[in-house]
Amino acid sequence: MGFHGQAIYAFILHLFVSGTGVLAQSSNQGFVNLDCGLPRNENYIDNSTNLTYYSDYESISTGKSYIIATNVISPSVPRQYETVRSFPTGSRNCYTLEQAVQGERYLLRAGFMYGNYDGSNSNAILFDLHVGVNFWKTIEITISSYTYEAEIITVAVADFVSVCLINTGRGIPFISLLEMRPLKDSIYTLANASQSLDLYERVYMGPYAVRYPSDPYDRVWQPWGPAPGWITISTKKSIVNYKDDEFEAPSAALQFAAMPANKSRELNFDFGDGHTTTEYFFIFYFSELVDLSGSNQAEPFSPTYLRGFYLHANGFFTGRTSYNFSLQATENSTLPPIINAIEVFTRLVSTEATTNLSDELLLQ
Ligand SMILES: *[C@@H]1O[C@H](CO)[C@@H](O)[C@H](O)[C@H]1NC(C)=O
Ligand SMILES: *[C@@H]1O[C@H](CO)[C@@H](O)[C@H](O)[C@H]1NC(C)=O
Ligand SMILES: *[C@@H]1O[C@H](CO)[C@@H](O)[C@H](O)[C@H]1NC(C)=O
Ligand SMILES: *[C@@H]1O[C@H](CO)[C@@H](O)[C@H](O)[C@H]1NC(C)=O
Ligand SMILES: *[C@@H]1O[C@H](CO)[C@@H](O)[C@H](O)[C@H]1NC(C)=O
Ligand SMILES: *[C@@H]1O[C@H](CO)[C@@H](O)[C@H](O)[C@H]1NC(C)=O
Ligand SMILES: *[C@@H]1O[C@H](CO)[C@@H](O)[C@H](O)[C@H]1NC(C)=O
Repeated sequence: MGFHGQAIYAFILHLFVSGTGVLAQSSNQGFVNLDCGLPRNENYIDNSTNLTYYSDYESISTGKSYIIATNVISPSVPRQYETVRSFPTGSRNCYTLEQAVQGERYLLRAGFMYGNYDGSNSNAILFDLHVGVNFWKTIEITISSYTYEAEIITVAVADFVSVCLINTGRGIPFISLLEMRPLKDSIYTLANASQSLDLYERVYMGPYAVRYPSDPYDRVWQPWGPAPGWITISTKKSIVNYKDDEFEAPSAALQFAAMPANKSRELNFDFGDGHTTTEYFFIFYFSELVDLSGSNQAEPFSPTYLRGFYLHANGFFTGRTSYNFSLQATENSTLPPIINAIEVFTRLVSTEATTNLSDELLLQ
């Protein structure tokens, strides 16, 4: 992402405001936390989330466990990345997450750190990830000590979810971490049996990553800013979502906002991977953090004090190599525009949900 002076899309896309405020309930029920390659029956409590991570032994019958090289292990490497499961044989190796319920929506996250686990000092390992029979993404590992992540919002087409690593002849597939979080029926409804949402970016304006327990769905909100020419403001007060909020951004991710530093009236940013065929879904989150006592109205859209709002298009944007957005104060506004958080997803088409249990098992 970058910051540019020229806008090609007007910002006001779609606005949902209704209902009365309630805070989302926090719960970790149904989370699947697998530390891949951890010895059978071992588990531990993760420091930053207090979630218990388990060996992946019960979820997969193939592959081989390794510990990453000792010179790569350091306090900054999360424990989940210290072991990997590697798949030297078979073109398709699948995890079966039996905790899923058919028709329910899930956030799936996979993590990878090569860490020279096999001692072969590879500097280019590529393999594909699938969810069931559907392509998810190509993982490209080039730096041994980096963590690479993939995240998708997808609907279970059976009473389990399978995550498969596909050997495409460009290195041995491996995995460090696999997580599954159930989502409420009412959120991210664009993900359904015929399409999934692959995470492109999820950012907010604060200094540290926000995730569970601050976010009850354990989305990870990465710090983004302030960019040159932007300032951030923050509050310690809770931001409240409306009852029928379709995304339920957590208060911790909305407690920071960016605005132009020099009273200019625009905030500009762009997104894009350079491919005109990619289909994007953008969600922009807002909350007014300063009590304006009703005196400074900025039509047509003015965030309400300590209330979470969002704007998104009705569907996907496609056909361009990049999308430049501009938030502009309107003519009579006495205030600059603000933004609190942004999510960007790309669309993944699923084959229709005709697979049944035996089809899935045959493919593994
Ligand atoms: C949008 O931003 C990109 C990335 O910097 C830039 O190259 C491009 O010229 C901009 N497009 C328009 C139409 O402003
Ligand atoms: C984890 O649990 C400990 C002990 O109950 C508590 O002090 C700590 O705040 C918790 N951490 C998080 C991130 O919730
Ligand atoms: C939590 O993480 C810190 C830093 O990595 C480490 O020093 C500490 O031992 C960890 N605590 C637990 C209970 O694992
Ligand atoms: C999924 O959503 C898209 C767009 O809203 C819709 O066109 C499609 O029919 C939906 N598919 C299913 C299986 O509901
Ligand atoms: C201040 O605003 C002006 C007018 O919008 C803009 O041209 C300039 O780049 C801004 N300066 C900084 C430091 O962002
Ligand atoms: C701005 O205020 C003027 C004077 O009240 C009014 O005529 C004009 O329509 C307003 N413009 C907008 C965009 O609201
Ligand atoms: C499941 O798939 C098998 C093999 O393709 C087929 O014989 C069976 O009828 C299917 N069952 C259902 C309930 O669709």
